Amino acid sequence: MSRDQVINKTIDFVKAKLEGDSSGHDWWHIYRVWNLSKKIQEKEKGDLFIIEMAALLHDVADWKFYENEEAGLMVVRDWLIKIDLSSDIIEEIIYIIKNVSYKGAGVKDQMKTLEGKIVQDADRLDAIGAIGVARTFAFGGKFGSEMHNPEEDAKLHNSFEEYKNSKGTTINHFYEKLLLLKDRINTKTAKEIALERHNYMEVFLKQFYDEWNSLK
Ligand code: ADP
Ligand code: NI
Repeated sequence: MSRDQVINKTIDFVKAKLEGDSSGHDWWHIYRVWNLSKKIQEKEKGDLFIIEMAALLHDVADWKFYENEEAGLMVVRDWLIKIDLSSDIIEEIIYIIKNVSYKGAGVKDQMKTLEGKIVQDADRLDAIGAIGVARTFAFGGKFGSEMHNPEEDAKLHNSFEEYKNSKGTTINHFYEKLLLLKDRINTKTAKEIALERHNYMEVFLKQFYDEWNSLK
């Protein structure tokens, strides 16, 4: 199979897996992360094929949608074997997918490869800015979170367990994750985009609180 055929078949595989998702992890999230990754790669370099494949597959194995991480990763690994990639390439892609996720305010990122850093940056850029705001409220609605509760203080988490099990409001998600992402971007190219998107979230939150407080 040619490189383009592998990519196109993987696109079909991912589309079929994520079809109908309403938590902000649908095909169009993958499409944005894939294209942002390619854009960052133009400046930062790294192996484009590994980057594209990891970007396309990065959410298929998400811990939120499988019983455990291993079950999700198995689905990805089976696919990579089926399309006949070499075991070295498979391991590089799996490594990225395993380490791409944000796991809490006080939990360090572990990504070691340039390809992984680029995909992680692209995924994080899609979590902030106007699209990030929209995805966050979509996710909150799907998983039954309150939108905002002024009686609750923002919480930050020091372990993945704590973060994973937190039942905070959607507005709290800005404090436990979204507003922290600009300082957890790996590449200079992505950092520039992140700062602009971060500013937009600050504007959004200010307006949100202004409207809320004008009720008093
Ligand atoms: P990562 O891409 O680092 O794996 P997730 O898949 O956990 O991150 O989150 C992707 C997006 O899903 C977040 O940026 C946010 O928009 C939404 N999301 C995840 N967890 C929550 C939550 N507890 N409340 C609201 N939105 C969430
Ligand atoms: Ni993602």
